[in-house]
Amino acid sequence: MCGIIGVVGKQQAAPRLVDSLRRLEYRGYDSSGIATLVDGEIHRRRAEGKIENLATLIKNKSLHGTTGIGHTRWATHGRPTTTNAHPHTDGKVAIVHNGIIENFLELRKELMAEGHQFETDTDTEAVVHLVSSMLAKGQSPQFAVTETLKRLEGAFALAIIFSGHEDFMIGARRGSPLAVGYGDGEMFLGSDAYALAKLTDRVCYLEENDWVEISDKKATLRNRFGKKVRRKICSSGHTGEQFSKGNFAHFMLKEIYDQPAAIGDTLSALVNPIQKSVNLPELSFELANISRVTIIACGTSYYAGLIAKYWLEQYARVPVECDIASEFRYRELEMEPGGLTIFISQSGETADTLAAMRYCREHEQLILAVVNVAESSMAREADALLLTYAGPEIGVASTKAFTTQLIVLACFSISMALEKGRISNKLAVKMCSALTELPSRANEVLNNDDALAKLANDILSARDVLYLGRGTGYPIALEGALKLKEISYIHAEGYAAGEMKHGPIALIDECVPVIIIAPSGKLFDKTSLNMQEVLARGGRVILLSDQIGIEKIGDVGADVVELPQVHPFVAPILYTIPVQLLAYHTAVLKGNDVDQPRNLAKSVTVE
Ligand code: G6P
Repeated sequence: MCGIIGVVGKQQAAPRLVDSLRRLEYRGYDSSGIATLVDGEIHRRRAEGKIENLATLIKNKSLHGTTGIGHTRWATHGRPTTTNAHPHTDGKVAIVHNGIIENFLELRKELMAEGHQFETDTDTEAVVHLVSSMLAKGQSPQFAVTETLKRLEGAFALAIIFSGHEDFMIGARRGSPLAVGYGDGEMFLGSDAYALAKLTDRVCYLEENDWVEISDKKATLRNRFGKKVRRKICSSGHTGEQFSKGNFAHFMLKEIYDQPAAIGDTLSALVNPIQKSVNLPELSFELANISRVTIIACGTSYYAGLIAKYWLEQYARVPVECDIASEFRYRELEMEPGGLTIFISQSGETADTLAAMRYCREHEQLILAVVNVAESSMAREADALLLTYAGPEIGVASTKAFTTQLIVLACFSISMALEKGRISNKLAVKMCSALTELPSRANEVLNNDDALAKLANDILSARDVLYLGRGTGYPIALEGALKLKEISYIHAEGYAAGEMKHGPIALIDECVPVIIIAPSGKLFDKTSLNMQEVLARGGRVILLSDQIGIEKIGDVGADVVELPQVHPFVAPILYTIPVQLLAYHTAVLKGNDVDQPRNLAKSVTVE
């Protein structure tokens, strides 16, 4: 977490740093700060809370200089106070850091014994004193940094400026991403291409253990052995405009409304709309030979994995294990070499998922990444890559990244099922047709926005909310509950509808809204039984179903949202949208910060 930015430029750095931090705010937003070089001296401004506070501070107390670094924080060590906000400095060097220095207590002790005084509770401050103590011995900044890197354990992306060294900066990465941006007589460092979007679209990514020296004219990259290396410079394709909310009140709402287009873009990359067939990019392994699949992810991406488990098991008839990355990586699982592991991640940088990927690499698994950021660490480390075309997702609560992940996984499931000879061509065509109809069906679902906004009033005052579903509706129940928790701060649980009788049924009374995800199909009758059980106990039900389902149950006193009639295969993709909208409107009614909910961050690059 945390976002970092560095500028060695021709214009005043402060406004550019603040502007980039706004685009990085999705990585953390509890405090922020910048430092620049003015006549060779380090000056800094820091503020608690959102970037807006920093912007106001700088307006009142301007900061000059064309070289500078900036940081937006998601606290790991030390409360989110101004003192703990980055950049950290001792006057000789200023540092911004994303990641965790795991041995900081040991380093701190050692440095304090040498007479260094610490001002903050952060792990990062130890890095400042380490670099500084080498500089004090007359070493060059380059030597001071490389020697410091050898002492650090944990994960970091660092950007460092030095007093007396105008137009100069050093960056380094281990475990956390860092990109170099190439401008015209200017150079930049940033956590990702989003940070650099308005500065340049020519970007190269440091590889693990690389470090880089930048001046206004060039970047010199070196690997851990100090050997000069070249890393590919690519065009990020990101422009400043992609980061605008347009006419929407929040990024999250815009991104919910982006879904028909994002689904369409992702389908265009994978499905031939005339032949109604899936054309996956070339994979480095034969799908027909895969006998076992392991899916690993975190958060919303994990729920996409759970849905893929249902699809792959039902259609490709292959056993699938789906696990949360932070659990998987410490289970020390023995893995039969040659198994297929699928890693799902919007950012492609989530620390636990990346670590699980590396574990699987060590255990000779085939590695497929499903990510939204083409230049991310996961994309680069995988054997095969399937991209989602959601575009930048800024709202912390994931929306379009999730539905596009489902599109990719649906296409993958069809391909695997066909390759393994488990489904007929006819069924595959039917499934593809259902997928190609989704952009327009998703638009129809968005027509329910006003109705869902009204229903949000029923959820607003609830202390607990239950989401129930069966089959692929069950992960959607989990996702609906997660969305509500994340942005409305109301406790919610997703449950397998059939499991309700083993516990959650005890919670049911008129104060607990129950949202039931029940497209018509073979599981509908069973789910509607569970709905009756809720109603019989005085529960308030919001039913999401289609015309067939709604006619079947008749008027039972539930609030009903009618969704388009679709093939059950694609239903979970469509039923995601109303649960997103319900959460969104509830959070808006509560007056919460929808795009930046408390305590969360979008890209979780710490364990
Ligand atoms: C954070 C975000 C979630 C996201 C999860 C996994 O918790 O707030 O929206 O689902 O990380 O992120 P990833 O980038 O790996 O999909």
